[in-house]
Amino acid sequence: MKSFLNVQDLGDLKAALAEAAELKANRFKYDTLGKNKTLLMVFFNNSLRTRLSTQKAAMNLGMNVIVLDVNAGAWKLETERGVVMDGDKSEHLLEAIPVMGSYCDIVGIRSFAGLSDRDYDYAETVYHQFEKYSGKPVFAMETATVHPLQAFADLITIAEHKRPHRPKVVLTWAPHPKSLPQAVPNSFAQWMVEADRQGLPLALDGAEQGIDFVITHPEGYELDPAFTRGARIEYDQQKAFEGADFVYAKNWSCPGIGRYAKDYGRILHDYHTMMQWTVDARHMAWTNDAHFMHCLPVRRGMIVTDDVIESPTSLVIPEAANRELSATVVLKHFLQEM
Ligand code: CP
Repeated sequence: MKSFLNVQDLGDLKAALAEAAELKANRFKYDTLGKNKTLLMVFFNNSLRTRLSTQKAAMNLGMNVIVLDVNAGAWKLETERGVVMDGDKSEHLLEAIPVMGSYCDIVGIRSFAGLSDRDYDYAETVYHQFEKYSGKPVFAMETATVHPLQAFADLITIAEHKRPHRPKVVLTWAPHPKSLPQAVPNSFAQWMVEADRQGLPLALDGAEQGIDFVITHPEGYELDPAFTRGARIEYDQQKAFEGADFVYAKNWSCPGIGRYAKDYGRILHDYHTMMQWTVDARHMAWTNDAHFMHCLPVRRGMIVTDDVIESPTSLVIPEAANRELSATVVLKHFLQEM
């Protein structure tokens, strides 16, 4: 593996889940694999979970870790070619990237969508520049359009909480006061669809395979079909929730699909309409005693109510804890191929 951006990069998900389970039983089983290897984590945006869990994962494997917060102490970076750099940006990414690559063996990138130019965001321009110019394997720590370490941790968490039957997993849009990227829902959809396609045995007896995956959101928030690949969309949130075993809540701004192309990155609805989608006890009562999931950080009272996120069926903490496992598996794959 030279790059980790999409679910296909990891390959066989059943094997990846088995690796995660092996590491959960003994996190330090491969603690010499990364000896004298250095991970560089580059953050263009804030983070709590990704920063800590990926660093911990690297330490589990015996790696050294260096962290660069681009907006806190580094030179301000220009990312576009062909510009006259007479403003506040002192260094171009095209020099900075190979320099960064010279100090490490693997590079992790966090670089969110700007949400103003869909083509630029969906081309994953910054990530691919790191792939091209760092000379090192690169992985996404949430980029403009994807967050695969999160989606892998989500899949691990679902696999750890099996139901007697093939699980119904619902990705629901939920309100937020700011425009947010589509990276988390894109990846969650991509990984759920692929888990279903690969027929993962996610029922308790292992007999039933795959996932009954449903996406629900107000009209205009249709995710890019490259990620949803024909997944069922149910605009009626109650119908979507009925029989759900897992409810995965997340806000995202308009992905700009079809007649909503000009609305890319916007919030489409007024406050009152939006707040009907907050996941509360009334919503959860429609489900099959579903587990509540969210990638965190979460806005209480907007995305979810206090009672739901604090309920015994909420998985937000184990889900975040599993970020260490997803990162350890991914770094292990890189190291084993060096
Ligand atoms: N879920 C997640 O990626 O959290 P951070 O933004 O805190 O890293």
